Amino acid sequence: MFKIVRRQEMTGGTVILNEIEAPLIAKKARPGQFVILKANENGERIPLTMADSDPEKGTITIIYMVVGKSTALFRDLQVGDSYQDVIGPLGKATHLEKVGKVICVGGGTGVAVLHPITRGLKEIGNDVTCIIGARTKDLLILEDEMKKASHDLRVCTDDGTYGHHGFVTQVMQEVLDAGDVKLVVAIGPVPMMKAVSKITKDYNVPTMVSLNPIMVDGTGMCGGCRVTIGGETKFACVDGPEFDGHQVDFDELMMRLQAYQEDERDSHQHYCT
Ligand code: FES
Repeated sequence: MFKIVRRQEMTGGTVILNEIEAPLIAKKARPGQFVILKANENGERIPLTMADSDPEKGTITIIYMVVGKSTALFRDLQVGDSYQDVIGPLGKATHLEKVGKVICVGGGTGVAVLHPITRGLKEIGNDVTCIIGARTKDLLILEDEMKKASHDLRVCTDDGTYGHHGFVTQVMQEVLDAGDVKLVVAIGPVPMMKAVSKITKDYNVPTMVSLNPIMVDGTGMCGGCRVTIGGETKFACVDGPEFDGHQVDFDELMMRLQAYQEDERDSHQHYCT
């Protein structure tokens, strides 16, 4: 069993942070890798990229948004409660390299995934500008952490309630126009990663995105997580979760993610009423 040792509610309880006792995973975890969690014996398997890991304490941290029944079940777990299963670390670790000027772009709970990668890029000597965004101020997460993890933090809200009024892509374009950007890392909602990749392609700047499609076994056996990269089928769980944003078929990914949205909403409603 994997005990929750810290729990924090963010954005009015729609986003939850759990620090979980998982010493063997914490020892091996690298930025960019994910775990698959189950709340109980019959629970659905949910893949989540780790927001942090602490090998000394033997803990990992996940941050998730409550969107369906399974994540609502997760939300019911309090400090002292345990997850039935946590499997990982899975997926390839982020390839961190000193390249010079880097932009890290994060949206929604993608900021949690971006955090260890941003910190890692800074630690090895890159000049890191971080741009994070949310629909509105109350939905922003990890602002202080991202400030520490980068050299320059820019914040955007779609409705203008905080920071730049507009999308992360607008601010990113300003930074790209200043020149010399060697790498962009974008993690967040699929439409955001698609928009970022489209712009950076025009600027010819290599771009890495992290994909979290429908995963089932997380070991390359079921094919549930297939994505099309440069015309080839890849499995996000073993070949990713990070891929070259210029090669991803985002439209196909969006279609697959939307396929179960209605069922997800219904089961969430059913569970909460
Ligand atoms: Fe089954 Fe990737 S989740 S193959």
